[in-house]
Order: sequence, then C-alpha cells, then structure tokens
Amino acid sequence: MRKNIVAGNWKMNKTLQEGISLATALNEALATEKPHCDVVICTPFIHLASVAAIVDSAVIGVGAENCADKVAGAYTGEVSAAMVASTGARYVILGHSERRAYYGETPAILAEKVRLALAEGLTPIFCVGEVLEEREAGKQEEVVAAQLSGSLFGLTAEEFGKIIIAYEPVWAIGTGKTATAAQAQEIHAFIRATIAAQYGAEVAAETSILYGGSCKPSNAAELFANLDVDGGLIGGAALQVADFKGIIEAFK
Ligand code: PGA
Repeated sequence: MRKNIVAGNWKMNKTLQEGISLATALNEALATEKPHCDVVICTPFIHLASVAAIVDSAVIGVGAENCADKVAGAYTGEVSAAMVASTGARYVILGHSERRAYYGETPAILAEKVRLALAEGLTPIFCVGEVLEEREAGKQEEVVAAQLSGSLFGLTAEEFGKIIIAYEPVWAIGTGKTATAAQAQEIHAFIRATIAAQYGAEVAAETSILYGGSCKPSNAAELFANLDVDGGLIGGAALQVADFKGIIEAFK
C-alpha cells in the first residue's frame, strides 16, 4: 500500500536556533503520540545536519527544499544532492512553484535534479500545480501533465517508484484559499491516471500524491479523506508545532 505522508516545508523561515527549537518540540510532541502517517520536515540547507541529529529518524524524516542540478564543482552558492544526503536528510523537495517562478527552474533543470537526487538515495517530493489563470482557463490537467512528463517520465518505472508527488495549486499556496476536497480529488485522480498511462496501474497505485496549499488542521481531514489524496505538503502551518501536529492527527 502507498504511504500516507505529512511533510512540512519551512521555506525561508527560522534561524538555525529557531529551527532547532521547532524540531525539538515536534520530536517531543510525536514521541508521546506516535503518528499514523509518515512525517517529514523539509528545512533550509543550513538546518539539515542539526535537525537530522535531533529528531528520531523512525518517526520524523528530514529533507531539503532544493538541491543543485550539478554533481560538484565551481557553482558558488549551490548545494549538491550528495551534500544533502551527507547531513542525514532523506528527502528533497524539487520543482516547488516558488523555485519555478522565482529561480527559473525549467522542466529540463528539474529532470536533472531528480536524477541526481535519486542517485544519492534521496526521495524527491516533486511538486506540480497550475497558476490561477490556468485554472480559470480550465487548463490545470494539461499543465500538470506537462510538468510530470517534462521532468519525470524519462525515469524508469523502478526510479519513478521512489518519487512522491505533491499537487500544489499555486493559487492556494500561502493565500489561505484551499482547493475544495472535490477539486483536490479530481486532479489527484487525474495525476494518478496519467502515471498509470505511463508506468502502469500498479506503479500508479503505489505512488503517494500529497496536496499542498493552505492546508491546516481545520481542513486537513476533509482533504486527506479523498481516495487519491495521500497526505499534505504543508508550508505556513508547518511552522507551529500545534498546527503541524493537528494536520498529522488528520490520520487517525
Ligand atoms: P502553504 O504552502 O501551506 O503555506 O500554502 C504550501 C507549500 O508551498 O508547500
């Protein structure tokens, strides 16, 4: 069976000390009440080694929010997949809409990042999702299919089996505006069908597809109850232990 997963995306928030406090508090909170899903926290690069050392790896996985599209060398300011893995992190978010929009990450660049992440044994959390104009024009399926095929469908079925997908409608990220449960289910089912057409029904059935975009304790259970919604990628609500724990508790 595919896994249910709640993953936090801290984005560019928290100093190292604040991040350590948050990770420590979350670790304590989940030690007493074991979660009924996989829990991952994706942090800024500089937090990774400290956070990985603090958390119980049996309960909380640690991930980066990005990695380089090059192996090593003269790429000032970049952090490679091997460096991420060397911290103890096991996941990496790739293709987040903020990376695509603000840092010019193209499908080809993302395909390379995915390849390098997999080569280092990292699990990519690969993000797809349409902007508001595309949703209003009814183009969300076309957009998401192109994002999947443009960066992932060069993988073998075995490689693809290691990927987690996060559907994040850009109009719902950080806006307080969430996709309805029906909207989420509809496009998640489409994503699964698209994966099935490429890799077969078995691979598609095993792929975890997370929802992201203003997910919070008050709407998580309704979103996660859908057949094809296997958890969430959480931004703002991952920055407070109570909120993040509230979302994790949607799986009971
Ligand atoms: P949000 O962000 O939960 O703050 O909307 C989600 C994300 O961008 O991963």
